[in-house]
Amino acid sequence: MKMVQVVFRPERLNDLEECVRKLDVGGLNLTNIMGYGRQKGYVKMYRGVKQNVNLLPYMKGDIAVQKEDVDKVVSAIEEQLATGSYGDGKIFIREVEDAVRIRTGETGRQAL
Ligand SMILES: Nc1ncnc2c1ncn2[C@@H]1O[C@H](COP(=O)(O)OP(=O)(O)OP(=O)(O)O)[C@@H](O)[C@H]1O
Ligand SMILES: [Mg+2]
Repeated sequence: MKMVQVVFRPERLNDLEECVRKLDVGGLNLTNIMGYGRQKGYVKMYRGVKQNVNLLPYMKGDIAVQKEDVDKVVSAIEEQLATGSYGDGKIFIREVEDAVRIRTGETGRQAL
């Protein structure tokens, strides 16, 4: 089992949500986050004064999937969210040991 973690721009929430729903992979867990990537924020002018904006608001979507679904899920999300611009976001893939559906006690892939 793997956790696909998608970090994306908040304004792309509807696109991400629609894409994941179509994939029919069980669930989606969303968090508001702050972060920076390679460009390390940006410099903005406010009333003639330069200000460093180091942390940008992003969102993170966690999707637990069966191992064999990872490639399908990652490429669908990538296709949906890619604009070719800096800051499009990133996808991390982590190992998940197990899951339990509380209602039934099911574990492993049955729990997803
Ligand atoms: N190496 C990383 N570790 C943890 N979080 C990251 C990492 N890189 C990016 N992020 C998260 O993803 C968000 C978007 O990153 P971003 O898309 O700008 O990555 P990038 O590597 O700078 O790529 P690009 O050059 O296309 O902008 C960041 O604000 C941060 O929340
Ligand atoms: Mg960047």
